[in-house]
Amino acid sequence: MDFNRITAAEAAALVQNGQTIGLSGFTPAGVPKCTPAELAKKAEAEHAAGRPFKVSIFTGASTGQSCDGVLSNANAIDFRAPYTTNPDFRKNVNRNSLRYFDYNLSNMATQIRQGYLGPIHWGIIEACAIEKVGTKAHIYLTAAGGISPTVCRLASEGIIVELNAFHSAKSMGMHDVYEVEDHPYRTPIMITKASDRIGKPYVEVDADRIVGVIECNVPDEARGFKDADPITTQIGQNVADFLLDNLRSGLIPKSFLNLQSGVGSGANAVLGALGQCPEVPNFNIYTEVLQDAPVGLMKQGRVLSASTCSLTVTNECLQDVYANMDFFKDKLVVRPSEISNSPEVIARIGVCSLNTAIECDLYGHVNSTKICGTKMMNGIGGSADFTCNAYLSIFTCGSTTKGGAISSIVPFASHIDHTNHFIDAVITEYGVADLRHKSDMEKAKELIKVAHPDYRPMLTDYLNHASKKGGHTQHELAAAFAMHDTFVRKGDMRLTDLAEYIK
Ligand code: COA
Repeated sequence: MDFNRITAAEAAALVQNGQTIGLSGFTPAGVPKCTPAELAKKAEAEHAAGRPFKVSIFTGASTGQSCDGVLSNANAIDFRAPYTTNPDFRKNVNRNSLRYFDYNLSNMATQIRQGYLGPIHWGIIEACAIEKVGTKAHIYLTAAGGISPTVCRLASEGIIVELNAFHSAKSMGMHDVYEVEDHPYRTPIMITKASDRIGKPYVEVDADRIVGVIECNVPDEARGFKDADPITTQIGQNVADFLLDNLRSGLIPKSFLNLQSGVGSGANAVLGALGQCPEVPNFNIYTEVLQDAPVGLMKQGRVLSASTCSLTVTNECLQDVYANMDFFKDKLVVRPSEISNSPEVIARIGVCSLNTAIECDLYGHVNSTKICGTKMMNGIGGSADFTCNAYLSIFTCGSTTKGGAISSIVPFASHIDHTNHFIDAVITEYGVADLRHKSDMEKAKELIKVAHPDYRPMLTDYLNHASKKGGHTQHELAAAFAMHDTFVRKGDMRLTDLAEYIK
């Protein structure tokens, strides 16, 4: 290897207060883990010495404890974007002790390129291999594409590479690295099917921009998934039945659609259930996170090919993919988020999007991000990239959470990420609310049908009160958040008394 070897502590020493670091990775997959942890130690030492030390962090999506967790706990983050899932980071965000904004993931690299987010000083990139070819360095990424190509091109001070032996060099070739041109010179992204490749298997940079290479062997920090339970299994079955009905009636093409599935245990279980349904034809996946269930379906031949931005899988699953690269190499493509989530490509190839809602209101507006309208859960992720451009856009959620104390169907969503213009169906364990070709008031009746039986009388009661106010979309504004308010005050939405609110 022809590059300067450094330690993570030496890398962290290079980063100065007020600078911005751009990281590889998308979800905890493919994130550099050594340098951020050393930066947290540096921040603690600087703070103890009475000196300020904070950095801004841009990456593909979330990271893990060794990055967002320790850096937020060390009060070392000035601004962070886009998506995150780390519980410690979430606590700090909800205390407003750092500045956080969750952009649509397809737009993150673009926002950086446009200069909206200021300069990136350092690129910190996890690699499974790095090669010097003439004056160029070829960086082979690990389990995610993220915003690495843009970070590597724009990092003004240089690039630090974490060469992580945990990621097998057998995976070289899994990535399709392609960066769109700057405006106004953008050309079409020539992807017409999930398995198409249009770029290079590595990120190419001038070799002299590699400031140092850190050799390490650290596992990814992927979370495990909750096992499928009767509720998620029923949701999966309802999704499958809905898709089959649409297939039979010709509303979706006989060759089926590319599936996108969201992040989290619910999405993993839904896709698993869909794969087990024998009537659902074998399908392709165009998504941003590939979780364990669809990787299993690829091995069974149910999923024919998959385009993703990250392998957000358990470490056992990741090692299994690496060990079987001969099988996966022509079926699995890992792309930068700008391409995996590209509205242009999603709209062209025909995608059925399957995302998870925190809550959905009676008119079909969906909250994906904020608990009771105020507390950030994770962020919008790529859900809007897919929802807004899908051929068929579906949200799923259990009808209740927290032991039934919270209904996922509410009169008015306490925060709205996805408006009803883009949402075709909402599916719970109680069935499908098919929102297509329906007025707002018809959508409301459809959504009450899929609410938990405990909440249907309350939601119907709300609608009856709201109807007295008239309007195209009827609301009794004084009671619109009665269920949320009751939960905040009494810990259970079932205790809501609408009469308390409607004077
Ligand atoms: N009110 C309060 N809490 C709620 C809630 C609501 N209406 N709905 C869900 N929650 C809580 C759950 O109780 C659970 O809490 P816990 O961790 O304390 O058990 C937590 O949110 C996660 O919910 P869960 O049912 O386990 O779902 P999940 O793991 O499938 O995640 C989202 C659901 C919505 C949080 C997740 O899908 C997400 O972050 N989505 C936004 C990003 C996205 O859609 N990306 C898509 C492209 S990949």
